[in-house]
Amino acid sequence: MYEQIQQSVEFLKKVFHNRTPQVALVLGSGLGPLADELENRIAVPFGDIPHFCRSTAPDHVGQLVLGTLSGKTILCMQGRLHGYEGYTPADVSYPIPMLKALGAKAVILTNAAGGINTDFSAGDFMVIDDHINFTGKSPLTGINDDKVGTRFPDMCHVYSQQLRDLADEAAQACGISLHHGVYVGVNGPQYETAAEIRMFRVMGGDAVGMSTVFESIAASHCGLPVLAISMITNMAAGITGDSLSDEEVKQTANARGQLFRTLIRQIISMME
Ligand code: HPA
Repeated sequence: MYEQIQQSVEFLKKVFHNRTPQVALVLGSGLGPLADELENRIAVPFGDIPHFCRSTAPDHVGQLVLGTLSGKTILCMQGRLHGYEGYTPADVSYPIPMLKALGAKAVILTNAAGGINTDFSAGDFMVIDDHINFTGKSPLTGINDDKVGTRFPDMCHVYSQQLRDLADEAAQACGISLHHGVYVGVNGPQYETAAEIRMFRVMGGDAVGMSTVFESIAASHCGLPVLAISMITNMAAGITGDSLSDEEVKQTANARGQLFRTLIRQIISMME
């Protein structure tokens, strides 16, 4: 795996003319346009990068974009891979140690999620303080590469306290209210049943989604500090009595996308 990462990195360093990203960003629903706002952009389709998989998810562009934002060099994954597309957890998380090897000092993961906590409303934002990996799978299954990380990595501090505090300061600076909570990662692609959501609430979940946990685990494994923020695009199954639809998720993601991008820009501007 280490050799594959080196090959991806060699390729990208050439394409990016040796510009080194300070922060990497994985753009979930509603955030994709942020990559278009970067200055001095260089974009590479996932499919061109050695050992990288293409994204098939609807509305996920599927390219890496390097550029500057708020005076910092940023590398955006415009679109990501999901387990429900048929990728293995290791495929999904492959970009993470690669982003670290490219020089990123932190990664910001973003996603759309269903709200389980009844204090939340559609359109709210939540900083992920911790997660429950309910996929039953791990991106670290198989032979461990000690050059990337240890065999049995600790998961007590997956989400950087320093970056979570910074997110609060940034939200306050732009007048955005921010929840904190536990993200339950599921496989999808079907939304949950109402009974599953009741179970997740009892287990301590505040939001549920089909991404992020594999990437967070991989980041923790390779020692890349993570900040993860969910946009609550809908209340989870059974909470309002309404059926769930991709339409609703997309509508909220679009309607609240601009505010989400404002928050992310502010966070990046305040990062060291
Ligand atoms: N469940 C799972 N994934 C999601 C949801 C949800 O309710 N909303 C957005 N992504």
